[in-house]
Amino acid sequence: MPFNPELCRNESEVESKLIVQYLLPQLGYTPDTWHQEVAVGSIRLDFLAFAAQVIPFVLDTNSPLSVVMEAKHPKQNLNTHIRRLKHYLTSLNVKYGLLTNGKEIRIYEKLSDDIQLVFQCSGKEVEKQIEKITSLIGRDTLKNKHLKDKFVIQVIDNNSNLEIKRQDSMKIIAIYHNKGGVGKTTTVVNLAAAIRKKGKRVLVIDLDSQANTTFATGLVKFDDEVSDNIKDSYIYHILRSVELDTISEVARKSSFTNPEIDVIPSHIKLMKTERELNELRSSQIRLINKLKQVEDKYDIVIIDTPPSLNLFAFIALITADYLIIPSDLKPFANQGLTNVKEYIKDEVNQYRNSLNKLPLKILGVLPCKIATFPKFVQHTLPRQIAAIPQRYGLPILDTVIYQREELAKCLEQVQQIGDMEIPDPRSVFEYKPHGDSAKEFELLAMEVLQKIGI
Ligand SMILES: Nc1ncnc2c1ncn2[C@@H]1O[C@H](COP(=O)(O)OP(=O)(O)OP(=O)(O)O)[C@@H](O)[C@H]1O
Ligand SMILES: [Mg+2]
Repeated sequence: MPFNPELCRNESEVESKLIVQYLLPQLGYTPDTWHQEVAVGSIRLDFLAFAAQVIPFVLDTNSPLSVVMEAKHPKQNLNTHIRRLKHYLTSLNVKYGLLTNGKEIRIYEKLSDDIQLVFQCSGKEVEKQIEKITSLIGRDTLKNKHLKDKFVIQVIDNNSNLEIKRQDSMKIIAIYHNKGGVGKTTTVVNLAAAIRKKGKRVLVIDLDSQANTTFATGLVKFDDEVSDNIKDSYIYHILRSVELDTISEVARKSSFTNPEIDVIPSHIKLMKTERELNELRSSQIRLINKLKQVEDKYDIVIIDTPPSLNLFAFIALITADYLIIPSDLKPFANQGLTNVKEYIKDEVNQYRNSLNKLPLKILGVLPCKIATFPKFVQHTLPRQIAAIPQRYGLPILDTVIYQREELAKCLEQVQQIGDMEIPDPRSVFEYKPHGDSAKEFELLAMEVLQKIGI
């Protein structure tokens, strides 16, 4: 006779017959890898199974993959228990939850701070569906998935130094050049919008006290200092304290592009905080540490930087995995490239080394604000492009961002509210979705994602 958990008469039979006698062994969990009636703080779980054997078990961001199983009375409607399961998974950082009343079996997967139904069948079908259930939460599957999804071994250098790095982890890109006005902010906001349009979860961080990214992402919705709602919570607050002001608390939703993206704003007052933050030496690594807490929340973080070699540029460059250097390829910008290269070699990579971080990976110089005259594009531009690797030993990206009116215009949009004009800047994808600049930024997003392996 096929096993039919629908015949379980009460919660304790659902626990013993369906979970203990059938599901746990079928899924490969041996008695030493699951626990019944587990109390973690104020939470009481019916069952907690581990893909890897750990005694005593630890639940934290690095905990082995695990599954929570909750049994309910056959008369209970599972919908009324979803919220509680979500609370368990998100607060304990457990990846999967199985919820059953014997009549129905559901599996939920934790996303960043929500859960999603990934499997559902009736109790009657459990034997027919056991392969599918095993492929989701079986012990071996979770172990392999963990290894396959999360880790890749990267060879760093000829001395075979190895670093194990999570393959699917959040990638951080700094956009930096010490020359001003070359298109850094324009690149940050429109590249962020382009990557967001591809379905990636994006966080933008403004580390420049000019706060141009903060403006360009539409967070400056006031026209009078009295209404300034940024000065009390911006990037300074993240850098100032170890525990207070997490990324999630300081980030704001920005609808300058669709879908929305999260932005950590900056403020003109940031400039004045440089000395204070410089004195707190550990302020340099606070952004690194606080970003680790949101690793599961974002795929890509893009950091805008000031046109200087100050503390904030330094923080961006020690925090990022990758660097893009926007440049108009003109003589001053080119000469600035030497500064950037030396600064990275002498200061940034030395410091990264002391933190056991890989050297900053330069994705390339990005030609920006490039004139569109056909003669120039045909004859001069290829020479300028070739000069970057030849003269400065730096890679150059294939994409070119040309000088186009729409890229400046999209920042000048305003919204009329009563007799007030409120700034309402847009990404180029909202302002001119079929224009050449939108195409160029889309190409840039594809090139960048391909180069960083996402
Ligand atoms: N490709 C482009 N086409 C037209 N205008 C552009 C382009 N790129 C940037 N601009 C304009 O040039 C000015 C400087 O650009 P942006 O603010 O992006 O440079 P930046 O490198 O961030 O400057 P800063 O060093 O001051 O932070 C802005 O007014 C911007 O609108
Ligand atoms: Mg800028």
